[in-house]
Amino acid sequence: TSTHLYTIVVLGASGDLAKKKTFPALFGLYKNNYLSHQTRIIGYARTKMDQATFEGHVSKYIKLKSDEDNAALKDFLKLCSYVSGQYDKDADFQNLEVRISEVEKTSGAEARLFYMALPPSVFIPVSESLKKNNYKEGKIIRLIVEKPFGMDLESSRKLARELGALFSEEEIYRIDHYLGKEMVKNLMILRFANAIFGSVWNRHSIDNVQITFKEKIGTEGRGGYFDEFGIIRDVMQNHLLQILTLVAMEPPVSLDAEDVRDEKVKVLRFISPIEKDDVLLGQYGKSEDGKELGYLDDKTVPKGSKTPTYAAATLFINNERWSGVPFVLKCGKALNQQKTEIRIQFKDVVGNLFKSLSRNEIVIRVQPGEAVYVKMMNKEPGLGMKTIISDLDLSYSSRFNDSVIPEAYESLILDALNGDHSNFVRDDELDAAWKIFTPILKTIDEGHIDPVTYPYGSRGPAGVTEFVAKYGYHRGSQE
Ligand code: BG6
Repeated sequence: TSTHLYTIVVLGASGDLAKKKTFPALFGLYKNNYLSHQTRIIGYARTKMDQATFEGHVSKYIKLKSDEDNAALKDFLKLCSYVSGQYDKDADFQNLEVRISEVEKTSGAEARLFYMALPPSVFIPVSESLKKNNYKEGKIIRLIVEKPFGMDLESSRKLARELGALFSEEEIYRIDHYLGKEMVKNLMILRFANAIFGSVWNRHSIDNVQITFKEKIGTEGRGGYFDEFGIIRDVMQNHLLQILTLVAMEPPVSLDAEDVRDEKVKVLRFISPIEKDDVLLGQYGKSEDGKELGYLDDKTVPKGSKTPTYAAATLFINNERWSGVPFVLKCGKALNQQKTEIRIQFKDVVGNLFKSLSRNEIVIRVQPGEAVYVKMMNKEPGLGMKTIISDLDLSYSSRFNDSVIPEAYESLILDALNGDHSNFVRDDELDAAWKIFTPILKTIDEGHIDPVTYPYGSRGPAGVTEFVAKYGYHRGSQE
């Protein structure tokens, strides 16, 4: 269990994020004995509900696989209680304080974790109320915050200023849940614990890097919300850029959070803002069979919206290691499959000993089905000297007990409880990330780029293959 005993307050406890991610993650930690049984969890939101309804809320998305899980859930629910209140009323936060004090009297908790699972509009009012009413001298305070962290450089800085006036950077944990994913965490080990990878990880050997996020579902149910942001703010500027950072950064001095984050910021600062020519945008229409509706058919989406639901963008890192190597980020909704992967493609072999060669690739599959595989040339078994592209395959499901892989949120909440910032986004890191994307987002927001319509359930907009080819990607015999 964590070093301190906590009271955990989940703000926005009736919302989707809390139900689908926060409570299941807290339960996962509890079940696996990472959360002290003295911990108390208090949900806070506007909706009025009694304890039974709240328990229903907490349990809704918790998957129970055994009788022990059932029993554990019963015990877990005993740690949970609910307080309803507005997000801007001191009296309501004082009410919350009464509950916190009550539970702390019995638990003796010396630390408080406030988990903000809230819409951006109430973010600052809630932070102010917490600071005023629930911030106790002598208690360790930790605040987990969720994206969106602003809309662009300016609004992100404003938010950082306002939040920074209330809580110290030490107390703030900005979540990017991709940093809690097993294969994303594995990047540090793959790169810095393997001599065979370390020495070729640069522009002399690597031709291009592809980082791809594909989702099968569209924006169903949250089109109106999504429309304000678009896929670049929703996925690329945060999740994919974080992956890029870990693929590209220099080795940190140590695994200490500040050493790691110093290197992440440094590599981001070497990236120039994205150019209009280095972007391809798409928006999904109806599926070929007409069964799935297009993005614009969603009543909550403004008519004629040009918001991209697909984006491909190429970034260049202007440092000694990476100069000239394209990093192609691609992400989209309503595509043919669900998949997140990193594909590092090496340069062609020099010489002409063999015909029909495919390039080497290191592929790191983040999800589904965690895997690392290396595409390499091999002799086709049998008589003759034919080459064949083959995989050196480390699929987790066949090599490891992959049921031990935690949910990203479990891993991150545990880090926050332990005061470890390495997998959270630092303020200057966020700033550097926004600098890369803000100019192109402005161009898009002003309607200067028309997204290409692609059918729901397809591989994405026409032109994607040409786009990646333009940046040097060679399609192998297998993909
Ligand atoms: C969220 C985005 O941050 O990440 C969603 O807002 C997206 O649009 C989700 O679906 C993807 O996360 P995961 O863990 O399901 O890959």
